Amino acid sequence: MTNVVAAEADWDAAPSLLDGAANVELTVERCDLAYWFTEVAQGTLRGRPLGHSGTVQTPEYMRTPGPLREALTLELIYRSLDEEAATRVLADYVATAPGIPELEFFSTQLLDEARHHMIFRNHLIDLGHPKDGLIEWIRAVGAEYTSKILNPIREFATQVTRHEEDFVGGVVAFAIIIEGVLAASTELSELKWRVLDPVAGEIARGAAIDEIRHLAVGSSVVRQHLIDHPESREHVLEILRRGRKLWEQLEDKEFVMHRERLYQEGIQDHRELLRDYELFPGTRLIETTPEQRWDIAARWNEELADARLAYMGIPEAIDLLRAQAPRIL
Ligand SMILES: [Fe+2]
Ligand SMILES: [Fe+2]
Repeated sequence: MTNVVAAEADWDAAPSLLDGAANVELTVERCDLAYWFTEVAQGTLRGRPLGHSGTVQTPEYMRTPGPLREALTLELIYRSLDEEAATRVLADYVATAPGIPELEFFSTQLLDEARHHMIFRNHLIDLGHPKDGLIEWIRAVGAEYTSKILNPIREFATQVTRHEEDFVGGVVAFAIIIEGVLAASTELSELKWRVLDPVAGEIARGAAIDEIRHLAVGSSVVRQHLIDHPESREHVLEILRRGRKLWEQLEDKEFVMHRERLYQEGIQDHRELLRDYELFPGTRLIETTPEQRWDIAARWNEELADARLAYMGIPEAIDLLRAQAPRIL
């Protein structure tokens, strides 16, 4: 039986996250439950039910205590907490979905985020961290990150959807303020780990393919809403202003830079392995610094936001978001 998977969900044919999120067009009508089962469960995830194929392995040096393992450990802890929070927040999107297409799509996104949580969490076990008490340990190590970064973001999305019962406002918050801001670091993660830990690379690739869909559908919901209700333009911009204000109050850079400095220290032992590996054409990973990687991610974020905001029909929001300090997590 031949089974052709939609290009954007195909493991080999899907574009990179930033390319796909900027250029792929998907709607809630297209990405219904049937799409999810055929293109995701039986497409992207075919042969990779737990996020990776099992044909690649985590090298022993990733299991050995040291800065490289510590860098990936922190990244997986923060990502696990992000994905758990996203899953819980999305329950309100399902609850406030105005129609069945929205209800079906956000049910699948909720499941995607719960799956990401499982996959990132499980990879900590691959790195040799104890399975017993794993989630309690994740919460303890990530306590400061949760209280300073994650909880305010989560409260913002919950405030808009649950308390203000504003579904579209919630989609704006999630697609632009939350997932849009995470896209660059998700892409960077795939590129940073692909050679050093092929399992982490596969995990990141799978999550990136899902994110293309989440960002593309979220953007099309906002776009269609503005076509149908041009009078709500100011309201959408107001959600973006609130989101920008939120990020201005968050001190996320130190969490990222601490991890990036560990990564920098850790990759020095693998200079030979990384000698010719390019982060993107013309820039070799081993020659980049933590600050440069921060700047690269910030630039990618801006480019993605510009493309998506123009597609949504609110190009004036580009300047509004540009006014904020660049963020990555
Ligand atoms: Fe996710
Ligand atoms: Fe997502």
